Amino acid sequence: MAETQTISNNVVIRSVIMLRVNNLSKQFDGRIAVQNLSFELKPGMVLGLIGPNGAGKTTTMRLILGLLKPTRGTITVDNFDMLDDGSARRAKQRIGFLPENPALYENLTAYKNLYYIAQLYGMNKSEIDGRVGELLEMLGIEKRIEHRVKTYSKGMKQKIAIARAIVHNPTYLLLDEPTASLDPASAKTVREFIKELRSSRRGILLATHNLHEAQELCDEIVVLSTKPLARGKPGELAQTLFSARTAVYANGIPEGLEQVLKERFGKRYLGRKKNKMLFATESPEQENPEIISLLVSQNVKIQFVEKENATLEDVYMKLVNQNGREK
Ligand SMILES: Nc1ncnc2c1ncn2[C@@H]1O[C@H](COP(=O)(O)OP(=O)(O)O)[C@@H](O)[C@H]1O
Ligand SMILES: [Mg+2]
Repeated sequence: MAETQTISNNVVIRSVIMLRVNNLSKQFDGRIAVQNLSFELKPGMVLGLIGPNGAGKTTTMRLILGLLKPTRGTITVDNFDMLDDGSARRAKQRIGFLPENPALYENLTAYKNLYYIAQLYGMNKSEIDGRVGELLEMLGIEKRIEHRVKTYSKGMKQKIAIARAIVHNPTYLLLDEPTASLDPASAKTVREFIKELRSSRRGILLATHNLHEAQELCDEIVVLSTKPLARGKPGELAQTLFSARTAVYANGIPEGLEQVLKERFGKRYLGRKKNKMLFATESPEQENPEIISLLVSQNVKIQFVEKENATLEDVYMKLVNQNGREK
């Protein structure tokens, strides 16, 4: 996404609409929290930052927000340099942030919570009324305008907190583990809301350690464990890191079969879960007939045979475990 701006008759600069992090590193007292992280976040996409506790997700967000100074690297927001005093304010205006533990004013209405923050952004009364009205409508609570925040469900409170983060209509929204403290039903409400926000052409950076959430919401993922370990679309990441797999479902798997499979297929036999046996298959057209004929010869009553794709969880476990061992 690029547009050109004419500065004068003959000077044209290319302005790039994206939040760009390049070679970002941060040390605290000599200890590395984030190392060589680069990514681009464009409007309309959700970029997942996934990693275990202490991986550097929150630090990355605080760096992007200009709350911390990086040890190395650059951050630009639609061409505005976050690290330059002259342009940092304009960069910041374009970003909204939901912290890990957002605190709303529970005794005030949603309207007042939003209104108060809008005032801090220096919006005037009519701007605020328009914007807050729009947000309440988006939340579907415009008829509950007199209700205090404490009367809402946990999921709705989190949605109000997200709405508060976009009061100033930023292009980019940073969400730090937005569903981590929620029960499954509230988490689902919040995920649906995030999908709506993506379709309103905002670029969303989503920090999470919930892999199902990342798989459901993200267009692209960076697996982070201090340094970036992998990056790509959720489905593609799994494909590049894993060979194909064949799952065989069978009724009444005989005693001793495990041993036979281990001896015959070694590491290619990945194990058994209830009535499912899983095999890694580099060239399925050769290996699958081999697997099936062995199972038939062992009197296994096969129910189904299917291709199984690795999940984002498999990718994550593989990468984070490998990285842990190297450290
Ligand atoms: N202000 C700080 N001072 C010193 N160390 C910090 C500070 N903030 C974070 N860290 C350290 O940086 C690392 C990354 O932390 P954080 O970004 O909070 O990870 P995550 O959000 O992925 O759980 C951790 O080792 C943490 O202890
Ligand atoms: Mg964190």
